[in-house]
Amino acid sequence: MKTYINGKTKPLTYKESDVPIEKRVDDLLDRMTLPEKFGQMTQIEKNSISADAIGEFGIGSVLSGGGGNPDPNTPENWRAMVEAFQVAAAESRLGIPLLYGSDAVHGHNNVYSATIFPHNIGLGATNDPALVEEIGRVTALETAATSVRWNFAPAVSVARDIRWGRSYESYSQDPHLAAKLGAAYLKGSQGERLDLPTSVLGSVKHFVGDGGTAWGTTGRYEWVKDWWQTDGERWMIDQGDCLDDEDALRRVHLVPYLAAIEAGARNIMVSYNSWDGLRMHGQKYMLTDVLKGELGFTGFLVTDWLGINQLAADYYDGLVIGINAGIDMVMVPFDHLLFIKTMSEAVINGDIPITRVDDAVRRILTVKFELGLFDNDFTDRPDLALVGCEDHREIARQAVQKSAVLLKNENALPIQADNKTILVAGVGANDIGMQCGGWTIEWQGNPGPITVGETLLTGLTDKLPASTTFAYAADGNFPQGTKADIGIVVVSEMPYSEGEGDRSDVSLSVEEAALVARMREHCDTLIVVLYSGRPRIITPQLDQIDGLVAAWLPGSEAAALADVLLGNVPFSGTLSFAWPRTMDQVPYSADHDFMWPIGFGLTA
Ligand code: BGC
Ligand code: BGC
Repeated sequence: MKTYINGKTKPLTYKESDVPIEKRVDDLLDRMTLPEKFGQMTQIEKNSISADAIGEFGIGSVLSGGGGNPDPNTPENWRAMVEAFQVAAAESRLGIPLLYGSDAVHGHNNVYSATIFPHNIGLGATNDPALVEEIGRVTALETAATSVRWNFAPAVSVARDIRWGRSYESYSQDPHLAAKLGAAYLKGSQGERLDLPTSVLGSVKHFVGDGGTAWGTTGRYEWVKDWWQTDGERWMIDQGDCLDDEDALRRVHLVPYLAAIEAGARNIMVSYNSWDGLRMHGQKYMLTDVLKGELGFTGFLVTDWLGINQLAADYYDGLVIGINAGIDMVMVPFDHLLFIKTMSEAVINGDIPITRVDDAVRRILTVKFELGLFDNDFTDRPDLALVGCEDHREIARQAVQKSAVLLKNENALPIQADNKTILVAGVGANDIGMQCGGWTIEWQGNPGPITVGETLLTGLTDKLPASTTFAYAADGNFPQGTKADIGIVVVSEMPYSEGEGDRSDVSLSVEEAALVARMREHCDTLIVVLYSGRPRIITPQLDQIDGLVAAWLPGSEAAALADVLLGNVPFSGTLSFAWPRTMDQVPYSADHDFMWPIGFGLTA
């Protein structure tokens, strides 16, 4: 059947599902006014727009930033929130469907009660692409169940300096491992076909060189409202300048993008970092010549949050530079009126060619068609009961167990618990928020019972035999003279994300070192479990420790670690990052004699 609009006789070819996508895009583009085209190039943050305005301006995309949750934060409210925007878009003049995006970077992590998987650094230690693909698949199910069809993941950053607060978003310092796992995740998320209601568009990020920036080079943008301030520790390397020459940039940071394009990448997020002193959002050579030209990327590019604003003190100038460099959609994220108005001016003035606008809109619409958004009723989505379901938590448990890396073992592991006394210390041993890290419920994450999950303490309580005597004190202050067979200390970083997590020194703090020393007094065998978003310098404490386990940021199912500690499941994790002896070995260089090299991991 042909559909007609407003008494016009031209059939709405773009609405006909049997017409090839290219023709549908041509037809739709033909019908669009300039402002409608700018609307499609807009991505707005969900609190910065009303549903009415979505319809009025034909806005293309809405996002939840980190912590962009409905109140109360339930899966039901998420779905209702997203669908209210989708309904509004469907009621716009041309009815172009809306694409909603969120950061589901380790599970659908903004959503209370979703399954939270280990952060990428832990998945790197599993070295298991099939498992990572499965995580991509079930994350997509939970995400799509809330009607979100676009996930700002996977990060394929190749972190080369563990002072970086985003190190944990990186699968590995090795580009080939990051490439392998990033591609696996993307395949899982995007499924057999993008137009299945269970498939979620990935955003491969952040293009390019985000993991290669140098300490002290973070750009400062006085003109960007609320820009994050440094104190000499935070925001010192994140968003900085990548000093690699082109050959090194290609050999290291570009590698995962080749694999991602091969695996079907249709969206890539541009990085905040600069290269050679010029911000990536304005790098026409890398965005257009290399990525869209040489590498043949036919999907669309989205900016990072306020990425355009960083390009120049004048918004107009920044927008002209960015769009002409090859950006297709702008994560505005606050002021769509300013964006649309400035785009109009730039096109009228001839500073942005209309051909560039058409190319951008064509790319966006093509992916929307590929996702089946025009053909499937958006109410056709997976069951909400999948969010945080037992099957998904079981996959998370496997990931926790496979990501644990045994670094030192002097007859400490597996724990022989029968008839033994065991003391456990460390606040992280019993804190859901700390085991999840940043990008969990809130942008920065938070300590405390922030979502549904199980801690290592719960796992031990459940799994230890009845003959074991067991006590826990977060601060390790057991009564003087207490002596146990075994002590377990969880040493954990406080949650952080992005530049808030930049640190000049990743050694144990004075308090953490004191906790290890205190527990040493209380036990014959001391086991340290590290929860961290990067290797920590632990050389000064090593003599005190009999068993050392790197458990990264395990997510909601940290209880599963108990099975590995108790020998019910073998250790199999291997380092995807070399482990430095001292801060002198940071950033990485091939000449360093590391404490433990990449690939290292003992079996108990
Ligand atoms: C981060 C991205 C993220 C985006 C949306 C930015 O600050 O750099 O990784 O996808 O925000 O939350
Ligand atoms: C948002 C994040 C975003 C960050 C960027 C936060 O307020 O929640 O999504 O990445 O700002 O600076």
